[in-house]
Amino acid sequence: MSSKLDQLNSKIEEALQGGGEERINSQHNRGKLTARERISLLLDEGTFEEIGMLAKHRSENFGLGNQKFLGDGVITGYGMVNGRPIYVFAQDFTVFGGSLAEVHAKKIVRIMDLALKNGVPLIGLNDSGGARIQEGVVSLGGYADIFYRNTMASGVIPQISAIMGPCAGGAVYSPALTDFIYMVQDTSFMFVTGPNVVKTVTHEEVSSEELGGASTHSQKSGVAHFSVKNDLKCINDIKKLLSYLPQNCEEESPRYAYEGGSERREKLNDIIPENANTPYDIKEVIEELVDEGSFYEVHSEYAQNIVVGFAFLEGKSIGVVANQPAFLAGVLDNDSSAKAGRFVRFCDSFNIPLLVLEDVPGFLPGTDQEWNGIINNGAKLLYAFCEATVPRVTVITRKAYGGAYDVMNSKHIGADMNYAWPTAEIAVMGAKGAAEIIFKKEIASADDPAAKLAEKEQEYADLFANPYAAAEHGFVDEVIEPAQTRQKLVRAFEILKNKVDKLPRKKHGNIPL
Ligand code: HXC
Repeated sequence: MSSKLDQLNSKIEEALQGGGEERINSQHNRGKLTARERISLLLDEGTFEEIGMLAKHRSENFGLGNQKFLGDGVITGYGMVNGRPIYVFAQDFTVFGGSLAEVHAKKIVRIMDLALKNGVPLIGLNDSGGARIQEGVVSLGGYADIFYRNTMASGVIPQISAIMGPCAGGAVYSPALTDFIYMVQDTSFMFVTGPNVVKTVTHEEVSSEELGGASTHSQKSGVAHFSVKNDLKCINDIKKLLSYLPQNCEEESPRYAYEGGSERREKLNDIIPENANTPYDIKEVIEELVDEGSFYEVHSEYAQNIVVGFAFLEGKSIGVVANQPAFLAGVLDNDSSAKAGRFVRFCDSFNIPLLVLEDVPGFLPGTDQEWNGIINNGAKLLYAFCEATVPRVTVITRKAYGGAYDVMNSKHIGADMNYAWPTAEIAVMGAKGAAEIIFKKEIASADDPAAKLAEKEQEYADLFANPYAAAEHGFVDEVIEPAQTRQKLVRAFEILKNKVDKLPRKKHGNIPL
């Protein structure tokens, strides 16, 4: 027996060495952790169960027959994060640059199948040179097997991707099909075609970082939801994100013990400026409403005119969608509509109730917006809200103008409770624009057109720049003192917690993608 055990132990020892000391040192020298170090940081101590540690590739091409590494460049298995199970794969850059081929892909596919069958979240730690060039076409099949499973698992289990090194070519599409992407600053990049191909095809000169680094994707393209400064922060943030999520679409998020009461928040009574065109920071409102320090913003650097993220309300996870008056006056545009639409759909997939804070002057006008499809993009957000069956509560803090009023979780499209602060202005458009249109002739023929405009503007504002016309129609359920808002939300979400709402029977809807 002891010689058999020695044999086993020596194989384990060999697998643990990955691509060997030199390559591990090189990984560390770039500021990157190894795949095993990343997994051990992610999982609760001693909980990792590895699957496929002894797998090897079968290729003899281009000298590969003499280069076999146990595990084949990816570590797969399951374990616990804060006492809750997850499946994980971590590509090992020290073995063939983490490149993916037949066996490597099969290992990932295996844990994806297990994660889906068992209703357990899947975390992918990506660090790979892409398709293993020596193995050729089998790696393309392997990628497609993974893409298929990402899609089948979408909306069933949460899928989180971390990009912790290269991720290029078709390899980017697996993370893109998952729910959230983290990118590590300076050491990761994602692109479909790299700088050399770009130069050949379009004659543009661009660095990897500029083309597809963490800041590019977290600020410009929106592909990355989170940009983090190093591997450690990345892993810690993934654990934090998991704390807001259920294990699968059949479950609720965990409820955590909450000690404080749902006391009044006096600061909110003074947060809206006297002048309706003066900005304020909606994140200050969010911080006042949710459990202290619990707001975890998603996409914080992208389309900042809308704020989305998770928070706890008396220990229960909610998704927050809020117009941001401090950025582009909180207007809805292409990027912010698509960003919020995707977040709403994630929350709805995983039974996370939605809180919407509304202060929106409307959709952004202009050729850039129209030509880039604001009609379709705005419709994405509209569709996402219309379809969401989770508890949904809206608080209108100030402006709710035009089509944006309808889109931002109005009662007409299924919000369960709709509150307004006394500062709310629920109208077809702002008073000045409205007066200019309906009193055009009267203003033009007046002795003092400017004075006439001001008078008519005031007349329109008196009638509509308040929440009461909407409340009279029942579009608003209650006009509330801002300081009471937290209490109102706690009670509203509590009474809504067993909400049952069903969509008409269908294969699937046709969201304007
Ligand atoms: C096999 C690879 C590899 C690959 C890297 N390596 N990429 N082996 N197939 N795709 C190996 C290297 O030979 C080297 O082995 C080790 O990994 C580290 O690579 P380096 O080049 O030394 O590292 P670095 O300088 O950091 O550069 C990393 C890199 C570069 C940017 C990823 O290696 C690179 O450009 N690789 C090729 C990327 C690529 O073109 N992939 C195919 C994309 S097409 P040793 O033994 O020296 O340690 C694709 C299609 C997918 O992926 C389609 C899906 C639908």
